[in-house]
Amino acid sequence: MPDVPPAAPSSRVLPAPLQPGPLSALAPMQDVTDLPFMRLMAHYGAPDYYFTEFFRVHAQSRPEKHILRSIDENHTGRPVFAQLIGEDIGHMVRTVRELLHHPVAGIDLNMGCPAPKIYKKNVGGGLLRDPAKIDSLLGALRDAVPGLFTVKMRIGFDSTASYETVLQLIDKHAVDLLSVHGRTVKEGYRSEVHYDFIATAARSVRGPVLANGNITSAAKAAAVLAETGAAGVMIGRHAIRNPWIFRQTREHLAGAPVFAPTLADVREYVDRLYRETRGPGIPEHAHVAKMKKYLNFVGQSVDAQGAFLHDMRRAMTEVELFAVCDRHLLSEPARPFAPEPYAGVIARPNCESPAADGCSLDTISA
Ligand SMILES: Cc1cc2nc3c(=O)[nH]c(=O)nc-3n(C[C@H](O)[C@H](O)[C@H](O)COP(=O)(O)O)c2cc1C
Repeated sequence: MPDVPPAAPSSRVLPAPLQPGPLSALAPMQDVTDLPFMRLMAHYGAPDYYFTEFFRVHAQSRPEKHILRSIDENHTGRPVFAQLIGEDIGHMVRTVRELLHHPVAGIDLNMGCPAPKIYKKNVGGGLLRDPAKIDSLLGALRDAVPGLFTVKMRIGFDSTASYETVLQLIDKHAVDLLSVHGRTVKEGYRSEVHYDFIATAARSVRGPVLANGNITSAAKAAAVLAETGAAGVMIGRHAIRNPWIFRQTREHLAGAPVFAPTLADVREYVDRLYRETRGPGIPEHAHVAKMKKYLNFVGQSVDAQGAFLHDMRRAMTEVELFAVCDRHLLSEPARPFAPEPYAGVIARPNCESPAADGCSLDTISA
């Protein structure tokens, strides 16, 4: 892998993907898609593009240092887009100028975060209530970004009435890449994903569209690409569950044999996840708690009864956690890790908690 971070964008051509054909991206996830996690994904088979967790923009904000690290120290060989969440045009443009001093692939605007504390400030998904505001914000950001300017959005706030208007604004301001999570803000993570709305975007905007939402496997990625006509897929929670998903998707699309991880491979992933994501000075109990949030997703493919999840949630120490992993993952090490989540095995805690105050592992699950 190259040691030099990718250069800041000088043109509006998307960086070349790893293989010709549909694009792939790791979805931005607050508290997840930091530098160690991006490195982990690169180890198991990188996506074509990364997106940072969102930089919050307001009058007092400065780009958060830990998010900047995922740009400045990105040695994965794959480009990273910096995502912003905010609505004040002056401060958004100021932040863009600061970020352009870093080796970003481009600037991404968040128009989808469904957490009430976020949308009540008219940022994230809240912007979708106000097409006039979207028009002025996209115009200002387009002017401020000489390279790639991208948007990630849901299909509406509480209805899809303004969807086509918003898509017209995406085109009017020449957005270079559009990621669409096919649910409204109010649908949270509960509903089916409306892939037909993603298809509408893929048909009607000039730039490429990434389809996002419940892409659980390589086979599902291929099916969603066929159904939507999108230029690529963006995958979030199921890349936490299955870090091989980007590699598998590339193999599937190329008609090559698809890597099929065993439970022993998953045990190795858990070990690497533990080591790579433990920040300096983080106490063991806090790191074990964080690991359980990732393992909530992993456990969906370990066994159909949810026995791994049941035991994992009770572990309090590193030794207990790995004893549970050994028991469930190494007793039949050659058993396949299920390519899809087992039906009815739910990753808790539930994202629909009314206390949700951001997009985070505490508030979002399957
Ligand atoms: C823990 C978590 C944090 C998230 N943080 C962000 C974020 O910072 N910015 C954003 O645009 N979307 C965020 N999202 C939404 C995801 O990018 C994605 O749109 C959503 O999870 C649906 O895709 P999936 O079904 O592949 O997970 C987050 C989702 C999760 C699960």
